[in-house]
Amino acid sequence: MVGLPARGKTYISQKVCRYLTWLSIKTKVFNVGNYRRKLHGANMPHTFFDPHNCIGEQHRREAAAAAMEDMIRWFNEEQGVVAIYDATNSTIARRKWLHESLSKQDIKVLFIESICQDESLIIANIKEVKLSSPDYANVDPEDAAIDFRARIDHYKEQYETITEENYTYIKLINVGSQTIINMIQVYLESRIVYYLMNLHIAPRKIYFSRHGESQFNVQGKIGGDSFLSPRGELYAAKLPGLISDNLGGKPLTVWTSTMNRTIQTAAGLPYPKMQWKALDELDSGLCDGMTYEEIEQKYPEDYANRDEDKFNYRYRGGESYRDVVLRLEPIIMELERHENILIVGHQAILRCIYAYFMNYDQDDLPYLKIPLHTVIEFTPKAYGCEEKRYKGKSNKIY
Ligand code: F6P
Repeated sequence: MVGLPARGKTYISQKVCRYLTWLSIKTKVFNVGNYRRKLHGANMPHTFFDPHNCIGEQHRREAAAAAMEDMIRWFNEEQGVVAIYDATNSTIARRKWLHESLSKQDIKVLFIESICQDESLIIANIKEVKLSSPDYANVDPEDAAIDFRARIDHYKEQYETITEENYTYIKLINVGSQTIINMIQVYLESRIVYYLMNLHIAPRKIYFSRHGESQFNVQGKIGGDSFLSPRGELYAAKLPGLISDNLGGKPLTVWTSTMNRTIQTAAGLPYPKMQWKALDELDSGLCDGMTYEEIEQKYPEDYANRDEDKFNYRYRGGESYRDVVLRLEPIIMELERHENILIVGHQAILRCIYAYFMNYDQDDLPYLKIPLHTVIEFTPKAYGCEEKRYKGKSNKIY
């Protein structure tokens, strides 16, 4: 990462980490600020960051080196694939050190610079994130804001935007309004660049709901393309009220799968709708239309294997959760790009999307609870998502 303090570097680091981890790419963030606090204590005044303060400068260099050492160890000993080195890295000299140290280890470097000229975004970031940082524990918020601004000024004195033509980099200017890329060469870099280009920070809500109870749900059968049961129809009738009560008149787009049960559930919603094949339920192949008991009797070995490793188990002629995550990648990209979205989906699909937003790992993902007749509301925040659930019976939050 490259950028002045309060430019969203940590936010971007965590988003990229979550996205790549979700795609099963082993990723870890190394936050140099955490090393600084561990080595030299939190609560350092802005003078610690003054480039003319030799001791401060030396301590900061030590923290940078400790993070780098750990990062290289992680690559070598834990087979890490993508490490995100979260620090200001705001001078040509610092980036040269990074580039040389990592190139020596055969590690490719992609610099991500976040430039923000919009003063209101910087103030919002300071208020929302920085004042609650361990650096300002027990400090009066006004004093903390003044100190943090002075810290930014110290960095500004030395800041050099990336101009190194021989480096691979992406410059994000004012979160998504302009992007400059240089020397992007390999597939993974281009995936990360594409992802970053889709990010935005406009306030918004994302809603998820499973389809209403289907006729197959009543019979305990999996898969299929049945219509709703009478209970499912009741939920479909309630859904428009549940959404509008909480949306407050803002625009919304509804996404469904191409299956009858999600289309029927969304039918009464007075918003633009889009059907996605990629949102169709996990394909259970030969087991489609069977009950779990029938599967256990007919394919006992498969049943046991699925129990053993539900994320990786692939139905005969069908899919695994791992397959579904990959097919949902374009959905995640689109979700990042859009503002308010409601997905009327299926159990396995919503588990995968939920895991992306809430950072669940592969072992937990296939067991996440996404009940019927419940709307899940996500409000993306600086780090992570706030979640509320509304039951179909009433719009009581639980
Ligand atoms: O039972 C409803 C359903 O959506 C099935 O169509 C699907 O196969 C299943 O849930 C996915 O859940 P699990 O992976 O726990 O079997």
